Amino acid sequence: MDRVRFCLVGTGRAGMVHGINITSRIKNAELVALADINKVSLKESGDILGVIDRYTDYKEALNRNDIDAVIIVTPTFTHAEIACYAAQLGKHIVLEKPMAISVDECAAINAAVKKNDVKLQLGFMRRFDPAFIQGKEKIISGEMGRVMIIRSTGRGPGLPPPWTYDLSQSNGMLAEVNSHDFDSIRWLVESDYEEVYAQAANFKCQNLRKNYSDFYDNAVVVVRLKNGTLGTVDGTCPAGYGYDARVEILCENGVIQIGNLKESGFMQVKGDGTALGSAFRSWRDRFEKAYLAEMEHFVRAVLNDSQPAVTGEDGMKAVEVVVAANKSIRTGQPIKLV
Ligand SMILES: NC(=O)c1ccc[n+]([C@@H]2O[C@H](COP(=O)([O-])OP(=O)(O)OC[C@H]3O[C@@H](n4cnc5c(N)ncnc54)[C@H](O)[C@@H]3O)[C@@H](O)[C@H]2O)c1
Repeated sequence: MDRVRFCLVGTGRAGMVHGINITSRIKNAELVALADINKVSLKESGDILGVIDRYTDYKEALNRNDIDAVIIVTPTFTHAEIACYAAQLGKHIVLEKPMAISVDECAAINAAVKKNDVKLQLGFMRRFDPAFIQGKEKIISGEMGRVMIIRSTGRGPGLPPPWTYDLSQSNGMLAEVNSHDFDSIRWLVESDYEEVYAQAANFKCQNLRKNYSDFYDNAVVVVRLKNGTLGTVDGTCPAGYGYDARVEILCENGVIQIGNLKESGFMQVKGDGTALGSAFRSWRDRFEKAYLAEMEHFVRAVLNDSQPAVTGEDGMKAVEVVVAANKSIRTGQPIKLV
C-alpha cells in the first residue's frame, strides 16, 4: 500500500478540519468518500473538498473495498455503532474524542478493533502540539522532579452544536471540551485517575435549562491521580473571548506552563494602562499544526503497520473520568475510580 484511502463520516465542524488536511496537506492520503446524514452539509463539504462520492448512509460508503480507513467525526452518541461497524469491515479508524458515551461502549469498540486487527487512533490532538510535547519531555527527563499539582484550563469560544446540550447524547461540556484536559493530564503525568470531585454551574445559558435540566456551562473538577499528583480541570463554554487552553504543571524543582492566551507575541499597552492583544478565536487555530500532525501520524501508522500513539485505552480512560465527574456533579460526592 502506498497511500491510505479514507472515508470521512461526519462533515461538520471538526470533520472539515480533517477533510481539508487529508485533501490538501497530507502526502500518501486520499479522501475517497464522504458520508453524512445531512444532505446540505454533504453537498457543501463535498464541493469544498472536491470529493465526488457522497453518501447519506455511512454503511454504504464503508462497504466499498477501495476504502482503507475511516475518520469518524459524528456526534458522540453515534461513535460506538460506527466504529464497531468499520472495525468489522477491516477498516482502520481515526475516532474523534470523546470515544463514546460510556465505558461499556468504549470496551465494545476496543474489542471490535482487537478482534478485527485494525488500527484505532483517538483524536487527542494536544499530544501532537509542540508545547505539550516539550512539557512532557521535560517531565519525563526527571529534571523537574515529581509533578505535585497540575492545573488545566479548557474554554471554548461559543456553544458547541445543539446535540451536545443533552448530556445523555454527549456527556456535556466536560466531555465535549474538557476531554482534552483530562487526557493531557493523564498523558503528561503518566498515571491514571484515582478520585474526582466536581462542581458545575450554569451562568450564561439559563435558557437551555428549560429543555436540558442538567446542562452546565462552567465546571471545576478536583482530581487525584494514582501516583499522588493533585490537579484541577476547569471548563467554560461559551467563554466568548476565544479558545483558551492552558496548563500549569507545578513540580518539585520548578513550574512548567503550556499554552498561551495570546495568539501571537503582539500586545499593545496604551498610556492609560489598557492592553490590546488578540486571543485565539478557535480550537482550529490554536491546534492547527496538531490536527495535521495527528493525521500524518495515523497515515504513517497504517502504511508502516505500527501502533498509533493515542489508543482506545486512552479514549476509554478519558470517558471514565468524565462519567465519574458528571456523577460527582449529580451526587455532590467525590467519586473513586477503579
Ligand atoms: N478534537 C477536537 O478538538 C474536536 C473539536 C470539535 C469537535 N470534535 C469532536 O468531533 C465530533 C463531531 O463534532 P462537531 O463539532 O464536528 O459536530 P457537528 O455537529 O458540527 O458535525 C457532526 C456531523 O455529523 C453528522 N452526523 C450525525 N449523525 C451521523 C451519522 N449517523 N452518520 C453520518 N453523519 C452523521 C451531522 O449531520 C454533522 O454534519 C464530536 O465527537 C466532537 O467532540 C473534536
